[in-house]
Amino acid sequence: MNLPFIDLASQQQRIRTEIESKIETVLNHGKYIMGPEVEELEKVLCERVGVKYVISCSSGTDALLLALMGLKLQPGQGVIVPSFTFTASAEVMPLLGAVPVFAEIDEETFTLNPARLGYALEAANSLDIEVVGIIAVGLFGQPAQMDKINAFAKSNNLWVLDDAAQSFGTELNGAKTGTLAEVTCTSFFPAKPLGCYGDGGALFTDSTEIAEIARSARVHGQGSHKYQTFRLGMTARLDTIQAAILLAKLKVFDEELVLRNAAASYYAELLSGWVETPTCYPDKTSSWAIYTIKLPKRTNRVFIQEELSKRGVPTAIYYPIPMHLQKPYEHYPRDKNGLEVSECLAQSVLSIPMHPYLTNEKQEMIGKAIIETIKIVDKR
Ligand SMILES: Cc1ncc(COP(=O)(O)O)c(C=O)c1O
Repeated sequence: MNLPFIDLASQQQRIRTEIESKIETVLNHGKYIMGPEVEELEKVLCERVGVKYVISCSSGTDALLLALMGLKLQPGQGVIVPSFTFTASAEVMPLLGAVPVFAEIDEETFTLNPARLGYALEAANSLDIEVVGIIAVGLFGQPAQMDKINAFAKSNNLWVLDDAAQSFGTELNGAKTGTLAEVTCTSFFPAKPLGCYGDGGALFTDSTEIAEIARSARVHGQGSHKYQTFRLGMTARLDTIQAAILLAKLKVFDEELVLRNAAASYYAELLSGWVETPTCYPDKTSSWAIYTIKLPKRTNRVFIQEELSKRGVPTAIYYPIPMHLQKPYEHYPRDKNGLEVSECLAQSVLSIPMHPYLTNEKQEMIGKAIIETIKIVDKR
């Protein structure tokens, strides 16, 4: 057996006719840039999430940049962000001359620990860095504790940006991701729960000002016509073909979320007692973008990965090095009590195959391979 880590082929097989017909429509009308599918996608996403504005763009990273421009982040200002995340969540601050301030996550949910936000703020304040906002990350598919994070932000006069690159399609206390912060960003990278066939992203907001700035910055800071420039900007539009693909994929997205949740529950059952499986509390739903288990302390993770690979089970490490230990980020401020949880998790996490087309049989094979490998480790 040789299993895929993410099975995009099965999804394509299922909706190929729909995708082909949508691409054909684009080829026929020929509006490759900002064609009607882009507007249609934005409208569908607005209705789905229940926000006033959706601005599609060229990637999740560009969505973050556009959002920060919309929030008027200035050089030298600080933004609190978890250290245990994908590079892009932190990268966007230095790209705008601003300062990422690394905060600790909660061991169980892999998302920002609201109780530790004050320590990150204090660390930045002690360096005279004016902190203006927080980027929360819905890591591995579940939203961060946005209610508590928003409360902290409110009492400290900060804005909140939800990096939902992995958690689009989820809810917290019945409220949809996309509405949990001033502005929310997502990614349509192919491996994401809602992915296109290239790079893509979107931002969601109810703020007319953020939407106007982001929409203008998406096209070189364009004003009321093409050759009027209001501000600095980028080429950050979503291709019409990618919007067409996303419209086709949205038709199966909700069902795929249900299938992902069923797969996550079955993994929890199969692996119970052997490894620590991820927790998602009842106030949240998860898109299970990535299924990440925790290996027992001091387990040789490389050996486990090799043994699983021999058994045809692909694995990945998201993420082996927290951001505050990465070379370009070492000098930025961090929680004054250190980031031990982030550092420990980077050593013990292991992500295993997750996608909507995992059958029970395949999951049983994966579960068996993991248990066999853990037994070998225990005997050594
Ligand atoms: C948490 C997080 N933020 C941002 C991004 C950036 O998205 P993109 O790759 O579309 O630029 C990703 C993508 O992996 C991500 O996982």
